[in-house]
Amino acid sequence: MDKLRIAGGRPLNGRLRVSGAKNSALKILAASLLTEAPLVVGNTPHLHDVTTMIELLGSLGVDVTVDEGMRVQVQAANVHSQRAPYELVKTMRASFLVLGPLLARFGRAEVSLPGGCAIGARPVDQHLKGLQAMGAEIELDGGYVRARTRGRLQGRHIHMDIVTVGGTENLLMAATLADGVTIIDNAAQEPEIVDLAECLIAMGARIRGHGTRSIEIEGVEALHGCTHSVMPDRIEAGTYLVAAAATGGRVHLTHARADILTAALERLEAAGAEVAFGDDWISLDMTGRRPLAVDIETQPHPGFPTDLQAQFMALDCIAEGTSRIRENIFENRFMHVQELNRLGADIELVSASTALVRGVDHLSAAPVMATDLRASSCLVIAALVARGTTVIDRIYHIDRGYETIEEKLGGLGADIARVR
Ligand code: EPZ
Repeated sequence: MDKLRIAGGRPLNGRLRVSGAKNSALKILAASLLTEAPLVVGNTPHLHDVTTMIELLGSLGVDVTVDEGMRVQVQAANVHSQRAPYELVKTMRASFLVLGPLLARFGRAEVSLPGGCAIGARPVDQHLKGLQAMGAEIELDGGYVRARTRGRLQGRHIHMDIVTVGGTENLLMAATLADGVTIIDNAAQEPEIVDLAECLIAMGARIRGHGTRSIEIEGVEALHGCTHSVMPDRIEAGTYLVAAAATGGRVHLTHARADILTAALERLEAAGAEVAFGDDWISLDMTGRRPLAVDIETQPHPGFPTDLQAQFMALDCIAEGTSRIRENIFENRFMHVQELNRLGADIELVSASTALVRGVDHLSAAPVMATDLRASSCLVIAALVARGTTVIDRIYHIDRGYETIEEKLGGLGADIARVR
């Protein structure tokens, strides 16, 4: 199993290009099921999760071609199965996002329930409730969701009980082909939903209000193909900015959008970083200073993203002062705490959702283990600042969401290698 070996203590310094957003690309690929025409998806990140989605679409009969630049052409003209099997859904929850498109276009779908995962229970009740409101008959059988409709799904006014990214996306895609107008209230506002909506609009969907709490979709009878370029990955961008700040370094990110990272950039400035940005770049300079401790509280967008909580905790570990980190989105997203403490951090879990981080003046290398995607990247940041050489095990988690991380960090001057 691959590991990352990192010799800490070097400030990061340099430029890097941010990849396409994983959490946008996966949904846009799933949206290809809504039409028989080809969808060309550019700026797709080369990640394990993207490969899993391509494998899933292929198993349904979607023709997929990928060119050298990771431009993916997907065409769902010969779909012969509406079944997403447990083997694929269990490895990647985003597989559940084929439910809405399959049901809307073919009137039936059979998708394995994702089950819980390391960061929480993560039920899908809101996805199912919304689809039922639109007229789907749903039964749970043998660990699978079996959904059917008689004729087209029906446009409805749906109020989501909680803000859910995946739930909003499944219903958004399903509603594009429904009969009549669907309104999704209390919708998630994440930028990846806006990217998906813009791709759907380019496919002929009629959508308004994406990026706000209320999305209105007027169903059409059929969608057509389009070419869409995936937005930049805000979480990857945020991760490298935090890594630069934690090491006292500086970084210039290209193909990065500051407008979708406002909450994180504000926290980085509070930590003492000098941040500048333009339309498609962000730069950060820590001018060699030790960061100041910053409190974090995760919220749905435009609040502080849960997907950057672990990385900021790594920064807080070596910051001047004490910080409080509160995780409001997932009930079990603190597994990195024990690993950070193994590196010499002083973190106390004061409740299941709150951690108190007392900044220490240095971390020290130790063998550690990645437990989920963002926890892995926080261990990378901690290893970059720690004294000595840290080996991080189980880094397959990181390959799900960070494209060529060792090359990108190596380009910024980090001493990092992938070892077996
Ligand atoms: C998406 O997950 C992202 N994944 C996650 O990124 C991200 O952390 C999360 O949104 C929040 O921003 C993808 O886009 C593939 P949710 P998703 O539905 O859609 C509860 C990463 O590291 N909930 O917004 O699964 C749920 O349990 C990943 O890249 C219900 O109760 O998140 C959670 O506590 C990790 N019922 C909360 O809502 C439902 O029907 C938010 O989940 C649906 C969700």
